[in-house]
Amino acid sequence: MKKDLTEIFNHQRESSDNALHNFHAYPCKFPAFIPREIIKKYARTGDIICDPFVGSGTTLLEAALLGYSSIGNDINPLSCLLSKVKAKPISDKLLNEIDIFCDSLLKNYSKVTSGISFHYDSIDHWFQRNVIKELSFLKKEILSIKEQDLMDLLLIVLSSIIVRVSNQESDTRYAAINKNLKDLDTIKYFILKAIEVKNLYLDFYKKTNGLEFTVEMLQSDSRNLSGIKDNSVDLIITSPPYANTYDYYLYHKHRKFWLEMDIRFAQLNEIGSRREFSSLKENPIKWEEDIKKCLQEMKRITKPGGKIFIVIGDSVINKKIIKMDKMIKMLAKTVGLKFISSVSTLLSKHSKMFNPRFASLFKKEEHLMLLQK
Ligand SMILES: C[S@@+](CC[C@H](N)C(=O)[O-])C[C@H]1O[C@@H](n2cnc3c(N)ncnc32)[C@H](O)[C@@H]1O
Repeated sequence: MKKDLTEIFNHQRESSDNALHNFHAYPCKFPAFIPREIIKKYARTGDIICDPFVGSGTTLLEAALLGYSSIGNDINPLSCLLSKVKAKPISDKLLNEIDIFCDSLLKNYSKVTSGISFHYDSIDHWFQRNVIKELSFLKKEILSIKEQDLMDLLLIVLSSIIVRVSNQESDTRYAAINKNLKDLDTIKYFILKAIEVKNLYLDFYKKTNGLEFTVEMLQSDSRNLSGIKDNSVDLIITSPPYANTYDYYLYHKHRKFWLEMDIRFAQLNEIGSRREFSSLKENPIKWEEDIKKCLQEMKRITKPGGKIFIVIGDSVINKKIIKMDKMIKMLAKTVGLKFISSVSTLLSKHSKMFNPRFASLFKKEEHLMLLQK
């Protein structure tokens, strides 16, 4: 078993990864080969695959490409919309409507003279006035689309260009800079992105045509997955936050404002956030309690004999390292899950997986662990 895990963990990143994985930014994704190789090795026909920390939907997209039904869950509303959109193929007929929609944009925009403007605190610091007007117009046009799947896909396309057209330097640099965007640039970026994404979805539709699977999404707290029935999942493949490393709820702030998504629920219920352990100085025992609750829920929803694969990194809280392989091994026993095997690698050496700056001086490791119910 250890040999299998080592092979999966050390698999080479493939340039043939489906391009849908990358058309929208999301921090700390795991590489697509992890869920892909696990599904190929361990899933049997008809299995239901679940990711309770679904993030950008990597597990769900790989499950769809291999023809498996999946259930995703995340506390973050943008993650839920993105994952659902990414894992659900759309028919070529519907996708071709994107061309008609884009053609109508420039025509309709020239008729718009005033009256569309979206507002939130600090919007003028982060967006030029002409960009605010064009984004507001794009949003209004997208929200008038009757077909829900197409509307959701185009909302995600809109979301994908928000940082590009904002004054924010980039997805990872938060300084406000002048990008000097001309009138209609925002609409043109949107159209270019929509056509690029349409082509990716035509390919996805072709690849999955004839495969029968469903995609279900929940926005809830993984410590309480009451929306998922007992003993209903065959395989869990997931990566919880690495404690005290990140604030996921903050990352897509402008995107969530524009899509009018609630930020507070994720802010208050995100586990392992930097806010919780660095700003609010929460006791590190809280992290152990949270992971225990998540493992209890994973056990409850998994069928007897079902497997749970977890990718997780060590944390430093209050200047003390927390070895997550040891913690999960101990908690698995407490909640009645069998520990099968785990492999580890130094986070700093494994720069392909996550940002090496998170590794710090503490020799943090990242682990791939296999538990079984
Ligand atoms: C490491 S990321 C997952 C990335 C994912 N594997 C991917 O490839 O995109 C961890 C995720 O856990 C989510 N999360 C944090 N606290 C949560 C909670 N209490 N319940 C559900 N999801 C939570 C975050 O919003 C984030 O999307």
